[in-house]
Amino acid sequence: MCGIIGYIGKDVANKIILEGLKRLEYRGYDSVGTATIDAKNHLIIKKDVGRIEEVNTKLNLLEPASNIMLGHCRWATHGAPTRENAHPHLDCKNNVAVVHNGVIENFLELKEELIEGGHKFVSRTDTEVVPHLVEEGLNAGLSFYDATVNAIRRIKGSYALAIISTREPDKIICARNESPLVLGVSDSGTFCASDIPAILPYTNKVIVLNNGELAILEANKFVIKRVSDGITLSREAKVIEWSIEQAEKQGYPHFMLKEIHEQPTSLRNALRLQEQYLDLIATFLDRGEKIFLLAAGTSHYACIASSYMFSKLARLATYPIISSEFIENYGESVGIDTVILAVSQSGETYDTLKAVDYARMRAATILGITNVVGSTLTRVSRAYIVQQSGPEIGVAATKSYTAQVLVLAQLALKLAKIRGKLSQDEIDELKASLNRIPEVVENVLETREEKVKAIAKKYAKEKLFLFLGRGISTATALEGRLKLLEISYTPSLAYPAGESKHGPISIIEDGVPVIFICPNDETRKEIIGNIMEMKARGAKIISVCEKGDQKIANLSDDIIEIPKVNPLLSPIPYIIPLQLLAYYIAIEKGLDPDKPRNLAKSVTVP
Ligand code: G6P
Repeated sequence: MCGIIGYIGKDVANKIILEGLKRLEYRGYDSVGTATIDAKNHLIIKKDVGRIEEVNTKLNLLEPASNIMLGHCRWATHGAPTRENAHPHLDCKNNVAVVHNGVIENFLELKEELIEGGHKFVSRTDTEVVPHLVEEGLNAGLSFYDATVNAIRRIKGSYALAIISTREPDKIICARNESPLVLGVSDSGTFCASDIPAILPYTNKVIVLNNGELAILEANKFVIKRVSDGITLSREAKVIEWSIEQAEKQGYPHFMLKEIHEQPTSLRNALRLQEQYLDLIATFLDRGEKIFLLAAGTSHYACIASSYMFSKLARLATYPIISSEFIENYGESVGIDTVILAVSQSGETYDTLKAVDYARMRAATILGITNVVGSTLTRVSRAYIVQQSGPEIGVAATKSYTAQVLVLAQLALKLAKIRGKLSQDEIDELKASLNRIPEVVENVLETREEKVKAIAKKYAKEKLFLFLGRGISTATALEGRLKLLEISYTPSLAYPAGESKHGPISIIEDGVPVIFICPNDETRKEIIGNIMEMKARGAKIISVCEKGDQKIANLSDDIIEIPKVNPLLSPIPYIIPLQLLAYYIAIEKGLDPDKPRNLAKSVTVP
């Protein structure tokens, strides 16, 4: 997502910030901005849409030279990529400048309250509430620190914030909750940044800020405090030995592994959707006669999983269709009563956009789920939801898949509510299960990675894998197979287990690995039957199953246990070990999982 950087010290800040922004480029961005304080104690804001070099050529970010500066590269989540929405954001009197990475959940309430109090807003971002909240405190006579801490106590959600004010131009205040933020110290000054590579050329002495903490940076010192009670915390700087390249991956050897590990965070962000857009999309879906879920690749598998959710929760039949097949297969049936829900991480996949265009011309209602605000899909959709996963650099989709499934699950639940298909108790229970998903994924990542690594070692040389699941786990089987296929080049099949007798069973002979996805749902009894059929023919059984499922454990050669979850949400935690398996098999085979041959992150050609 966005990247932030700040510097205060003896050196000229502008060059440090400009270079730091360039090192944050790899995270993906659409606009750039800086804030500094000039000799007359005025805030100077320079920002625009475009690449860093373009914005610098246009606005000259190196002038006026100053010893304090904030920088930001924005990856739009709330509000399109425009100059107004670019950071830094200001208060009414141009005394406070803020850069932010994250999502402020309660910004609408705060914005309404601030507008009622006379504040003027110029952007559509969630961030803009922060400078106005700080302004409130300054107007009441508080110090910059007190005004800022009060503001931060009022916001909910994820944030890495850096703030400067003309009231106390010798300080940067920064704060963190769930979005990454590090501090750096050197003989020349003090830094804050979204990640280590941004400041690594200037210092390798780094302090990681924890959730719920803020820091007051001055040219030659910093103080860390807990936001909740203002208590001062002491923390030593760590010396970082990484190269810049390693640091971009936050110490992980590949972006894919980093992104797999980011899932607890991306899932938390996917739970912070704006209710009014969920409501709107659910209402459009409710009105449709025929509902198609259009997508390609991994996004198609998210749609398959969600079609079970729409049916089971909202009693609504939806059709997940591969984008490139849509026009040929269903084109003639599209009309004014058709609703298309297009799901695309990039929002730019050629086949998806072509099918969407076709349906639009036939008066269908177009809805979108994407990870990229401002993408073509957001422009052609009647309504859309941004999944807020942050940029995904690994070609193999990982965190964007689980976030798509979580967004779609929330949509199915919303629709169930609108259609009156579930009791309040059922809705509450499902909501609680949704909210627990990031924790479950965290637990799987913390406790199962070594086991998966060992399984990868054991099976890496196999020539062929079969993935089987029933019901909603069919989607997990398909997506698990795709991950393995695309980054380890191991030929693999995936089927709904019920279909396995209609063909795939013929390839089974001694030692062929079959991966079963078997959460404890109503398909369990039948899948046990399928396991026995495969076992009887010599297959090696690897099961991803619920923790403590002794029966499945007894039938399997290897098991990966997942904590109990609502079976309808199982596609999220159950895919995690399969992502890791694909990754570690690729590593065992000496392949680079970030650069699978012949594949592109975004396919913009037919
Ligand atoms: C490519 C990518 C996949 C992705 C698919 C659809 O094949 O390699 O990871 O799932 O495109 O992309 P979209 O951006 O539309 O979700």
